[in-house]
Parts: sequence; C-alpha cells; structure tokens
Amino acid sequence: MKAVILVGGLGTRLRPLTCNTPKPMIPLVNQPFIEMMLLRLRDQGIDEVILAVQYLADHFRAILGDGSRLGLKLHTVEEPEPRGTAGAVKNVEDLLDSTTFVFNGDVMTDLDLQAMLAFHREKGSALTISLTPVDDPTQFGLVETDSSDQIKRFLEKPRVEDITTNMINAGTYIIEPEVFKYVPPAQHYMFERGLFPVLLQTGDPMFGYPSRAYWTDIGKPQTYLDVHHDILIGKVHYTFRGQQIADRVWLEDGAEIHPSAQIVGPVVLGRGVVIERNARIIGPTVIGARCTIGSDVRIEGSVLWEDNQIAEGTLLHSCVLGNGNHIGERNHITDGAIIGDQCSIGAENRLERGIRLWPKTVLNDKAISF
Ligand code: GTP
Repeated sequence: MKAVILVGGLGTRLRPLTCNTPKPMIPLVNQPFIEMMLLRLRDQGIDEVILAVQYLADHFRAILGDGSRLGLKLHTVEEPEPRGTAGAVKNVEDLLDSTTFVFNGDVMTDLDLQAMLAFHREKGSALTISLTPVDDPTQFGLVETDSSDQIKRFLEKPRVEDITTNMINAGTYIIEPEVFKYVPPAQHYMFERGLFPVLLQTGDPMFGYPSRAYWTDIGKPQTYLDVHHDILIGKVHYTFRGQQIADRVWLEDGAEIHPSAQIVGPVVLGRGVVIERNARIIGPTVIGARCTIGSDVRIEGSVLWEDNQIAEGTLLHSCVLGNGNHIGERNHITDGAIIGDQCSIGAENRLERGIRLWPKTVLNDKAISF
C-alpha cells in the first residue's frame, strides 16, 4: 500500500524552531517526528511512501535516504515551488496507481489505518477524510456529514450560532487517484479551498471517517509541548528508546549524572547528557543528546534539543530550546519561551510569556533582566 506525506510547508507557526529544521523533522522525544511517523505507517501495512518535499528539502534526503533503514521504500519528490496540499499530491500523481493514503506531515495520531481503509471501501468513497472532535469548534474548519457519514458541508471557523458539529479535518486522507483529474497541474492548489468544494459540486462520493483516536497537530509551540507531555504521561502509545533507569526515567545511552542530582519522571535523557551537582530535572521533560546541565539548574516541563549548555542556577520551565544554545548563569526561561538554535544568552535574563529568540541571537548579561 502506498502513501504520500505532505512535508513541504514552511512551518511558520513553529518558528524559530523551523528556521533550520523543517517541521516534520523536528524531534519528538529525541527522534525526528517523521521517522516515528514512517515507522507507524510501516507497522500498519504501508510499504511505499512518497514524501512531497519543498522547504529545506535536503534534510529529508540526508536523514531518511531511500527508507531502507526504516524498512520501507521511500521516494523524495521536490516541488519546483510550493504547490499547496492538493497541488503537492498532483505533482506526484505519476507514482500513484491505486487507492492511496495521504497524510499531513505534522499530525501525531494513533489512528487505525486499516479500519479507515475498510470504511473507505465499504462506503465506495472517492475521498475519505479522517475527522476528530474538538472542544472549541469556533477555532477550526468544521466538516459536516449526514447520517451515512457522507460529507455535506465545510464550515470555516463558524459563529457559535452556526455550529452544527464539532468534527474537524484530522489531516489523514484516503484518495482514489481519479479525483486528481480535478486538480490543475503545476499550480498552487489546496484541499480545503480547492479540491473538497469541487467534489461537493461534482457529487463524487466523499466521506468523513469519525474517530476518537489520539490526535494533535504538532505545528504550534503549545501543541508541540502538549504532545511531549501526552507521550511522557502515557496518554498515547509510545515505545521509549533507551533504558529505563528509574521510575519513568529513560536514558538513551552514556549519561553522566551527579549523585546529588534529582530526576523526577517522566523524563527522557539523550545520549551523552551530563547532569551536574544538585541539578533538578522534573518531568515531563526531554533533554537531547550531549546537553550539559550545570549545577543547581532546575528544568521542568521543557524540551531541549541537542548540544545545549545550561550554566549554573538557571531555571527552564515550560520552554523549548533548539540545538546548540549556550545559556548563562541564573537565567529564568519560562512560560512558553522558545529559543532557536545556537543562541548565546548571558547571565540573569528573564525570558518568558512566549518570547521567541531567532537562531544565533546573542543576549548580554541582564539584557532582559529581573
Ligand atoms: P504553518 O506555516 O505554521 O501554517 O505550517 P505549514 O506550512 O506546515 O502548513 P500546514 O500546517 O497548514 O500544512 C499541513 C501539512 O501540509 C504540513 O505537513 C505541511 O508540511 C504540508 N504542506 C503545506 N503546504 C505544502 C506545500 O505547498 N507543499 C508540500 N509538499 N507540502 C505542504
């Protein structure tokens, strides 16, 4: 069975994390998200995947190669310019010969793909969209279906009085390749504003597959932290790599942990992490490979990518650090702050309330201070 994964978007909402790393490549629990997704697809019967790449395309080829390391056949196809979600699939149409899964490359879900495929076939659908319920329907595009699950209407961010459903497009599709005859070639064309409304008009059977499977879009800073939280507390099925060294503390390899350091799970420590005297790491937290956590540092509810150095007495709380940052002494980095890659931050700064530092930012001591 074949699948197309859309991985060419700019990931603007996650900037600065996506300045150097395309969104589907950002680490989730120290593993590129797309790698975890490919393994999930392989385990559910998909053996050939076409990655529709565009932004930072070389990263995909360099890290995933031909897919053999992950046990599937991978084609990486680059668009000459961003073609949009439906345009990107149109661009690889020649590689599609029968019913195909299409995935947004930024959705964490444990959806049962074989059950969705059985639904698609049973309904005789030309295009099936996975649907998931949300708590606040005013913030999303809603998908209205009839009692047989056929899609009747799309409502974009409706007013409260117009809400008839809480089901949204969950970013997994099953498509019969014939529907791509409606997609203009070599143009930017979207599913939501292009192909879906066209199929409503033509009357081709389009169904919504409702599911209560775990679902989160990793593409916003808060949801990126939420997914880590959900994985670490066991809300979604996940096989941790490395060795479990204490209650809900996993170590990926070769760390140096000072005996006075305190680690309260759920915590994942990457390869070669160093944790110094009296440091406290409180879960849910993930620390990437080769990070050094200085003495008396406290880290809670945060995600650190690789090669970060955190100096003595700093507090990291509910924040994300990209790769290779140097964080000086006694900083407070909290409340959804995001630090890009290779930033250099002096001592005693206070970075909070969603502040975002672009890669290679340099901050002196007390530049944003107490
Ligand atoms: P934002 O800029 O934060 O909205 O993120 P995004 O660019 O990734 O857009 P969005 O989250 O809406 O995209 C959904 C999925 O489609 C993601 O997996 C994107 O990588 C992918 N995608 C969006 N636009 C394109 C495109 O033009 N080409 C390809 N190949 N994929 C795309």
